[in-house]
Amino acid sequence: MSTSAEPRREALVELYREVSDCTRCPLHAGRTKAVFGSGNADAELLFVGEAPGAEEDRQGLPFVGRAGQLLNQLLEGIGMRREDVFIGNILKSRPPGNRDPQPEEIDACWPYLERQIQLIEPRVIATLGNFATKRITGSQVGITRCCGTPQVHEIAGRTVFIYPLFHPAAALRTPSVLDRLREDFSRLPSLLAEPLPELEAPAGSANEPVGARRDPASQLDLFG
Ligand code: URA
Repeated sequence: MSTSAEPRREALVELYREVSDCTRCPLHAGRTKAVFGSGNADAELLFVGEAPGAEEDRQGLPFVGRAGQLLNQLLEGIGMRREDVFIGNILKSRPPGNRDPQPEEIDACWPYLERQIQLIEPRVIATLGNFATKRITGSQVGITRCCGTPQVHEIAGRTVFIYPLFHPAAALRTPSVLDRLREDFSRLPSLLAEPLPELEAPAGSANEPVGARRDPASQLDLFG
């Protein structure tokens, strides 16, 4: 059930403040800024990456490095802008040296992503790369096998399409991955227009597949 946009936006700003001050895992000690995510607080499309890198940590914003520039281009290619979508990560703080997120860091950060999903109410969650895809689908199937195939999941109490995509950083390294990412992106508009299947069974646990299948002011106004 959808709540009106304004209270959800206010709750998102409140959550942003909470994340900015978060000390739930040791990563807080090494970060410059927490990266809450940015974009449209009422977006139908939510992108989820892995964790902030060096530039994201400096600016407190997601996907602002080279991978972010590619993400912007891919969005433009389907007639969308960053302001139309919400972009976030599994982890809100940068792991040192961009090492892989650790299980206890993911567990500490997970409730923030769940709350973001509840407040933004996206219809499609596009997972960027292996890491976000495995965590959000709850499956060990790798991105090469599942990219471009939408799945229906119950996540944070909502039925959503999960749409696994290669990570833009991988596409920057490998031309064939870029081709595949462009191709999968081109199917996003039709997926956004597709009705979500009705739930056939009572809601299961988070990310269970359904059926068969600081400068606060400058970040606050990013939730358009
Ligand atoms: N890679 C990610 O997964 N997230 C970012 O925010 C930037 C790069």
